[in-house]
Parts: sequence; structure tokens; C-alpha cells
Amino acid sequence: MATAHSSFYLTTPIYYVNDAPHIGHAYTTVAADVMTRWHRQRQEDVWFLTGTDEHGQKVMRTAEANGVTPQQWADRLVKEAWLPVLDTLDARNDDFIRTTDTRHETAVQRFISQLHDQGDIYEGSYEGPYCVGCEEYKLPADLIDGTGEYEGEKLCSIHSRPVEMLAEQNYFFNLSTYGERLLALYEEHPEFVQPASARNEVIGFVKQGLQDLSISRSTFDWGVPVPWDTKHVMYVWFDALLNYVTALGWGDDNAEAQARFEKFWPASVHLVGKDILRFHAVIWPAMLMAAKLPLPTTVFAHGWLLVGGEKMSKTKLTGIAPSTIIDHFGSDAFRYYFMRAIQFGQDGSFSWEDMSAQYNAALANGWGNLASRLAAMVNKYYDGQLPQAGELTDADRHVEQVALQAVTDAEAAIDAISPTRAIDATWTLVDALNMYITEQEPWKVAKDPEQSGQGGRLATILVTAAEGLRALAVLLNPVMPQASAALWDSLGAQAHLGALDAQPVADAGRFGQLPVGTVITKGAVLFPRLEEPEAK
Ligand code: MSP
Repeated sequence: MATAHSSFYLTTPIYYVNDAPHIGHAYTTVAADVMTRWHRQRQEDVWFLTGTDEHGQKVMRTAEANGVTPQQWADRLVKEAWLPVLDTLDARNDDFIRTTDTRHETAVQRFISQLHDQGDIYEGSYEGPYCVGCEEYKLPADLIDGTGEYEGEKLCSIHSRPVEMLAEQNYFFNLSTYGERLLALYEEHPEFVQPASARNEVIGFVKQGLQDLSISRSTFDWGVPVPWDTKHVMYVWFDALLNYVTALGWGDDNAEAQARFEKFWPASVHLVGKDILRFHAVIWPAMLMAAKLPLPTTVFAHGWLLVGGEKMSKTKLTGIAPSTIIDHFGSDAFRYYFMRAIQFGQDGSFSWEDMSAQYNAALANGWGNLASRLAAMVNKYYDGQLPQAGELTDADRHVEQVALQAVTDAEAAIDAISPTRAIDATWTLVDALNMYITEQEPWKVAKDPEQSGQGGRLATILVTAAEGLRALAVLLNPVMPQASAALWDSLGAQAHLGALDAQPVADAGRFGQLPVGTVITKGAVLFPRLEEPEAK
């Protein structure tokens, strides 16, 4: 169990600025935002880092193709696409790192110099197939045979594009010497790579034996210069992985930065897509071991959003911009849908039909309608003020039991990095409340004057439903912050309980928190029913 005020540091990968975000990128960011908002709701000290990966050939070539410098290109994409998408998604990150930030470049030079001075880096040469999409030298096992226009060529299995043969004189990191230590790490800390399928893949890969890693390039110059040999720039992944420590303040002499590093490092979770698992679960811990820095607790690899069975990507022209969906459904529904409809850790796909169906069933008719009905009934029968409840029946106690259990199960799911199961657990309360209202038929009870005063059956039903909704506002705040805030308002909870963000999750399931007389207002409908969208 997490203790109050413990610290929680979670990162997304830093995104390549060669193109604008699609919903595959948004998926990682939303998961990270849900996880960090949940930990904040637990009242922990949280740091949520995201940012952009701006060096390397991929970005350089895109800039060239657009007739601007890589820096100009990166500046434009960050300003016009990558920062705005955080607002579109309603992500509440604490920092945004760019690998072209001086704070980052200075610190990575310090890091690589330290490894060089220690003898972990040597000069050598390498020749092999390189995928610019992955920014990675590929092993034969990673390649597939091309067909059609690529007949006779070897393709990257992730990008379905031909690899290029590169031969270079560069600097190497002695990754091959870390195999045993990495295997011991996976063995002693099964939580280090999750889910289990990802862990097995990584163990299998490392057991085959590791090659040393080429960590510099001399055939182009868009990167951080290698300090002792400025004809070379650092390999983009070596540079990029370091963002997780440089953003906190590693390698910075500033006292505030150092204090932040002390407070939040090591990271609790690096959230990554499964395509970049090896970088994070093999190369990154070896780099940290070399620098004698503590290792992160968990690298969690989530699945892909698929289109036609393949990873959605801009390269394949299958990317959907997040705003295309959010303009129609809103950011809350987007966050809910992707976190719930796809079991976190597995692949999944998006369809307008499925999302519309889920929106209407779970959000408009499920949670939203419940909130509207309660507000309408308290207004109609008790002038908008929460009445005094009477004696509890088993049915009322059962609802509280469901709420308490939902909190316990959802908390356990978040500890297991499963936002999907956390939402499933929370939804048991939505369903139980809807069932309760249907069975208790408060509109019928209201017709009996003996039961519809203060302390009567009607009052008990409405107070029970209001408490259930209060619990839902707290539990769903990390997932759907806008609707939860609107519900908190409508329940008049702020006046008595304080801000929604300040409600500890652990206490959410306890009923009896909203006092008699709490003013309940009919706010805006949380999730208006939507017409079927036009086929897009
Ligand atoms: N720049 C590197 C990461 C460096 S981290 C030190 C990179 N960038 S990326 O922009 O290509 O991808 C960033 C994240 O988006 C990855 O976690 C990746 O898995 C995720 N996604 C990109 N397309 C995706 C889908 N179609 N589905 C789900 N996530 C995918 O890799």
C-alpha cells in the first residue's frame, strides 16, 4: 500500500517531433495522466514528466524535406502540435523536457564524459542494417522480407520500410558486459519489467547475449556533440533516455534541481509502448548501472493501437489526430474509452461505432443519467437540499459495501498499473447505483406522504445515491476530471468537504460525508447523448 505523501515519479517516452501526434501517442500520454492523477488523488507527491525527442536522423530528414533547419522544425512542431495536444487531452504534466533544452544538453554531456572517463566507452566501427524510423541498428531477427514495391529488400518489422546499410567509425558503450547484472535484476525484481509478457521477451533477448552499443554518429551533426570529440554527435537514443534524469535535475548545479532529483529519482514508472521496450528495459538500466545511479522501479510496456492489424503510424498514413475524436466526444470520453475499452498492456483498435456505443451506454445513460436523476429528484422533492436520511435497510448498506469494495479493488488495480481494471472496479458502483434506483423506485415512494418527509424512506434513498455519486466523483476524477468536477459542483460538496482534488481516494467509499442541507443543483448534463457521427 502506498503511504500518504510518498513520492511518485512517472514518465512518458519523449515523442519524436518529425510529425504531429496521433492517437497512438495520445494513448501513452492519457495513461500516464490517469496514473499520475490517481496518485495525486491519493495525496502523494507526484511528478509527471513528458516531452519531445528532437535529435537524430529522422527529425533531421523531415526538416530538410520541409526546407527548414532541424531546430526550426522542432520549435514549430513543439509549439503547434506537441504542447497543444496536452491541453486537448487535458493532461496535467509537471514538466515538459525538450532534448534541445540547454539543461538537457549540458547534463548529457556530463553523463557521457563520466562514462568515458571510467572506461565504459571505447572507439570502434560498426556496419549493419539501420532503421531510421526506429533510430536503431537492427539484428537479422528483427527484419522481414519485403514484398511488392520492396521485393528483394529487408524491411523493419515495425515500420514495414526498408532498412539502410550503415558503416561507421564511432564510440561504443560496453553494453555486452551488463548481461549478467541485467538478468539478475529481472530475476530479483520481477516488477522491473511489466507486464509478464514484456518481461519474458526482455529476458529472452538478454539471454541471447548483448552486443556493445554504438552511441555516436559522425555522418551528420543534428545531435548533442560528444564532448571529447566534437566531430561526433551522440546517438539519439542515448541522448533521449537521459531525459528522465536530466529533467529532474541530474547534472545540474542548481540547488533546486538537485533537490528535485533527490526527491523523485528513481522513477516509479516509465510508461512506454512495447516497440521501445528494449531501450528502456535493457539499455537504460545498463546506462544507470554504469553511472552508479539507482534504477527505476518499473518499466511498463503497453500495447499498440492497431489499424488493419498493424501499429497505427504516420509513416503508414494511418494516424488519427486526437482532436478528430475529441472534438466530437470531448476529452473525458476519449480518456475513458481508451483506458477502458483496451485492456492496458494489450493491443486494441478504435472504431467510431464502438466508441459511440460505449459513450452512450456507460457515460450518457450510465453515469451521466444517474447524476441528473439524483439532482432532479432532490430538487423536486426536497427543494434542492439533501434531506435527513432515516433508518438504513440492507439495500442501502449494500450500496456502501459496493463503494468500499470498489475503492479497494481500484486501488489495487492502480498499484498493478492497470487503469482498465481500476475503471472496471469503479463501474461496479455505477451499475450498483443504477440498479438501486431502479429497484427502490423513489418516484413511487415520493407519492406516499408518510415516507417522503425528512428521515423517511425517500430521503434515505436519495442520500444513499448522493453518497455513491460523491464516491464516484473522487474515483473518476483521475480518469474524467471535467465531468467529475461538474458533479462535485452539482453535489454542493465543495462547501462541506473542500476541493475535489483534496479528497483522499482511500476515504472515498465511506458514506455519511455530505451533511444534511447540502445544496444540490441541477448542473449541465455530464454527457449529452450524441447522434451517431458521420462515417469518417
Ligand atoms: N522518441 C522515442 C522515445 C524516446 S523515450 C526516451 C519514440 N518516440 S515516438 O514518438 O515514436 O513514440 C512515442 C510513444 O508513442 C511510444 O511509447 C510508442 O509506443 C507510442 N506510440 C506510437 N504509436 C503507437 C500506437 N499506434 N499505439 C500505441 N502507442 C504507440 O519512440
